[in-house]
Amino acid sequence: MTATIYQFFNGNMDNCQYVIADDETQCSALVDPAWDVPFLLDNIQRNKLTLSMILLTHGHFDHVEGVGECLDRFKVPVYMSSQEMKALRPQGIPIQYTEDNEEIQCGNIEIRCLHTPGHSPGGQCFEVDQHLITGDTLFVDGCGRCDLQGSDVEDMYQSLERLKTLPDETIICPGHNYGPSPTDTLENQKKTNRFLTCDTKEDFIRKRMKTK
Ligand SMILES: [Fe+2]
Repeated sequence: MTATIYQFFNGNMDNCQYVIADDETQCSALVDPAWDVPFLLDNIQRNKLTLSMILLTHGHFDHVEGVGECLDRFKVPVYMSSQEMKALRPQGIPIQYTEDNEEIQCGNIEIRCLHTPGHSPGGQCFEVDQHLITGDTLFVDGCGRCDLQGSDVEDMYQSLERLKTLPDETIICPGHNYGPSPTDTLENQKKTNRFLTCDTKEDFIRKRMKTK
């Protein structure tokens, strides 16, 4: 199975939105549609893809705001972590709740949901074909804030420790373009990301809670 990952930068918060496309069937998944939905959907059509589903890394508005607009044009399932806070679940939208390690079939590709709480209780990453779409869990040279409602800095530490066990060649595709490059390998991030190089959990907590 091979997948093509398209990365888009829309909106005024440096968000990254993604389309995961199955190269064989042209089925596709749209991740975190929140900004410029017409642009995203036109892009899917221009690339001759079929929108099969929407995947949400978590429930903050800058990741979910465009879901309703997408559903107005395409009736597709919307997947979100079963652990997300009620207050962060999009209202009036039917949601398919995922469990940790659940695999979602998109055409001939499998997308694995890794639950990574910390930034919010329902944070999840999507692993597909050596790429990891990380939402607000892991950024290039950064990680998500842990001082928001529902955040838990100890959970974030555990989530990042878990991501560090993935193959080094995994390409990190973050939810915001805050770093020196829009994506990076996990191998490189384990050297340059100050939140992945902490000696202890206490060191991580100190660092994470000191800065925004
Ligand atoms: Fe967020």
